[in-house]
Amino acid sequence: MNNELKIQWFPGHMTKARRMMEEQIKLVDVVVEMLDARIPQSSTNPLLLQVIGSKPRVLVLNKTDMADADATEAWFNKFKSKNLPVIKIDCATGKGTKQLLALIQQAAKPVIDKWLKKGVKNRSIRVMIVGIPNVGKSTLINRLVGKNKTAAQDRPGVTRGQQWVTIAKGLELLDTPGVLYPKIENPQTGFFLAVTGAVREEVYDRETATILLTEWLLNKHPDALQNCYNIEITATDTAETVLGKIAVARGYLKTGGMADMNKVYPLILKDFRSAKIGKFTLDEI
Ligand code: G4P
Repeated sequence: MNNELKIQWFPGHMTKARRMMEEQIKLVDVVVEMLDARIPQSSTNPLLLQVIGSKPRVLVLNKTDMADADATEAWFNKFKSKNLPVIKIDCATGKGTKQLLALIQQAAKPVIDKWLKKGVKNRSIRVMIVGIPNVGKSTLINRLVGKNKTAAQDRPGVTRGQQWVTIAKGLELLDTPGVLYPKIENPQTGFFLAVTGAVREEVYDRETATILLTEWLLNKHPDALQNCYNIEITATDTAETVLGKIAVARGYLKTGGMADMNKVYPLILKDFRSAKIGKFTLDEI
């Protein structure tokens, strides 16, 4: 990549979110980490493992409806081969959310066994959901809580405004998710996070992100670009010429016939984020 996408993080927000997550994790027995199936590697942060310690962790590959199915399967198998409890879900339809409860219960077994040895019976397993911004945490919580909302209980140790909700027999969920900021180890990670919508547009340059994305699509999925925008791509095309062709195809022209890039950039980003161009996975194994 010759062009780099710089992300201007707000360290203050991140430190606050990390502290809050650390406090919340102390209260729970099992942590559910949500990953974006389009970026299973870039949507995590190794810091989480340090905070979790020896507590069981369940991995959830979300937004599978927008990812490449073969790549999702490969990532799923990779996590499985490391003996990590993992599940593929799609919060848009709720697919997989029921099986998630069973997986959490399974992951909690060592904790329950430990309690039984100490003579502790009938104690509920406490769970929280963590993940990067926009990965689908609130959507999943709403799906799991659903009609159980009325079963919310007040318990000590939880910040005001947070509640434990019984989501299955012996399973209580903290109704506020933990926000985990991703670790941007290289410019590519920043680019992946930006184009999937994990970071807000104010913290990066939209033009650079769109050009990089078009370059990526041109290299990996030129057919998808052609079909989505009804354009002809030739061997000499670059990201810039492709964007120009899309502008012409859409009639996004300024007076004088120049392409109006201020209309093209948001279009590409929006269509990519909603998987209109295609179902793609950015992180390769
Ligand atoms: P967060 O709490 O982790 O920040 O994420 P949140 O649940 O708010 O979800 C972020 C966006 O992702 C929402 O869309 C949500 O609908 C969408 N989303 C969550 N899970 C899935 C999924 O599995 N598949 C798809 N296709 N989308 C998912 P939004 O555009 O912000 O809002 P809206 O479309 O719900 O209005």
